[in-house]
Amino acid sequence: MTETILTGAGSGAPRTIERTPRRAPLIGSYQERCQSFTWNEAREWLDGMPDGCLNIAHEAVDRHASAGLADQVALRFLDRTLPTQELTYAELRDLTDAFAIALRTLGVRPGERVCTLLDRSPALYVTALGALKNGSVYCPLFPAFGPEPVRERLELGSVRVLVTDAEAYEHKIAPNRDSLTSLEFVLIVGDRSLATEPSAPLPTGTLPWSETMAAATSVLHRDGFTIAATRPEDPALLHFTSGTTGRPKGAVHVHQAVVAHHATTRFALDLRPGDIFWCTADPGWVTGTSYGIIGPLTCGVTVVTDAADFDAGRWYRILEEQHVTVFYTAPTALRMLMRKGTELAHGHNLSALRHIVSVGEPLNPEAVVWGLEAFGLPIHDTWWQTETGAIMISNYPGMPIRPGSMGRPMPGIEIAVLERGDDGRAAVVDGKVTVVAQPGVDGELALRPGWPSMFRTYLDNPERYAKAFVDGWYLTGDVARVDGDGYVWFVGRADDVIKSAGHLIGPFEVESALMEHPAVAEVGVIGKPDPLAGEIVKAFVTLQTGYEPDERLRRELIMFGRRRLGSVAPREIAFDQALPHTRSGKVMRRLLKARELGLPEGDLSTMEPSP
Ligand code: PRX
Repeated sequence: MTETILTGAGSGAPRTIERTPRRAPLIGSYQERCQSFTWNEAREWLDGMPDGCLNIAHEAVDRHASAGLADQVALRFLDRTLPTQELTYAELRDLTDAFAIALRTLGVRPGERVCTLLDRSPALYVTALGALKNGSVYCPLFPAFGPEPVRERLELGSVRVLVTDAEAYEHKIAPNRDSLTSLEFVLIVGDRSLATEPSAPLPTGTLPWSETMAAATSVLHRDGFTIAATRPEDPALLHFTSGTTGRPKGAVHVHQAVVAHHATTRFALDLRPGDIFWCTADPGWVTGTSYGIIGPLTCGVTVVTDAADFDAGRWYRILEEQHVTVFYTAPTALRMLMRKGTELAHGHNLSALRHIVSVGEPLNPEAVVWGLEAFGLPIHDTWWQTETGAIMISNYPGMPIRPGSMGRPMPGIEIAVLERGDDGRAAVVDGKVTVVAQPGVDGELALRPGWPSMFRTYLDNPERYAKAFVDGWYLTGDVARVDGDGYVWFVGRADDVIKSAGHLIGPFEVESALMEHPAVAEVGVIGKPDPLAGEIVKAFVTLQTGYEPDERLRRELIMFGRRRLGSVAPREIAFDQALPHTRSGKVMRRLLKARELGLPEGDLSTMEPSP
């Protein structure tokens, strides 16, 4: 069997590359699947629980632990110095049972929020899955966030339990602990104790992870454990994401999201028994939860997770030494690998690798072709969002790839491209939208709701949730076009959100943090194109009178942003005493971006006249 790869956007004569896949996909051809697939069929691939109950952690862990995979490695942790720690499915079952018992002992009820602010360590995975076993809602926080994004999310989520380490606690939690009135329990992982006086008691509700888990394990051995009888529509996951305006939005997902996590992992990632899977996304973001924890564990494979930051040599070493068979990563990482050339890849035995998949930002066509040169495998792009919970569009295994295209809609997913209005979003007339009829024409990408991992609301913000739907479609905020063969091509965002190294950043959150500096009168934040990260955050700052726009102040503002925001802080700051405004007084980010890029400034009719 050969696989055909076409280059070109369906126009002109496409270059055809033929190759023989290392193993034919198990999941059936794209056409067959699209014709026959129903979400009810996918529900049957899972176990379920008595009385129609469903729990993500049961599907991910317990059913394998009691069905022949008890001794198989579920999670293999590589720490920074590379020795490994492993948890089998049986060990993971026991630890997650114990954590659920710990939550029950603390009186944490179903539906209440449990967060992690942790590096990729066993405690993170145990918390995530144990919280689900208790019926609590798991909410991951990205460990590179600074204190401000962490505080904001803990507050918005009314989070009751946080699991973190001593260092993160001291720098990111302790300074705001008093104002976080819902945060009752903080479990501290690791040997390092808090920098309190040796004899001083820990702050109320602050508990050592190890002792809490030891006590819960004794209860487990004595009394056993019964998983919470969660219903398919009970909330399970809370993922914060960002829009153009306002505070972060908490997308709520329910337990039956696992049906989509499982099916899409099989379809798009082609996972099968015996696979060794590595997803490089941090579990603090949705990819690292849906496809770094839930999806692959529901398939009963071994998941490799690495605590260290990107390093090309280290990554090739992991792929080789761990015999990784399926690799899910992001374009920024692939571009960083590309910079090192193909020689580094060729210096490693990567023969175990069967399938490479990418997500989160546009994947340049060169990267797809480079994959063939470096790995002997093309890179399969996939598209989805925090709100969709699972992959919606993909270069399905075995399907001809068009480098530069995100692929075609997954089985069970209906998409449309909608005609746009003046604001760049889908044009709505009398509550109706118009689907673009011809291939190759840009419009807002929309999805027909109905798959199990679709978000159910934005936490405490039903108005914002309602606004995401028009005329029976979910509006994604992305602009795309579809070619004559149904391949979807990403064009850009219809709004001002920034994608930096695959991470979605809300400009408002960055602007609000910078506004707290006494020198700042006003600020507008944009994504500035960057060859490696896709975009970097750039802030345009108007100073209060009495401040000089000099290099010292610029550096101070960069540091101020970094201390508050961590990884989402601006990398560049420019001073601008005449920021462009709309007539209603909002900074026109679109215009700042056009000026930064030297592009036409477009329609300025809504702009405030110059004084
Ligand atoms: O703009 C699209 C971009 O990432 C957005 C979703 O980001 P987030 O909610 O953080 O979800 C992360 C899980 C993927 C999308 O609206 N995006 C995602 N995948 C691609 C992409 N842009 C271009 N190509 C992709 N393959």
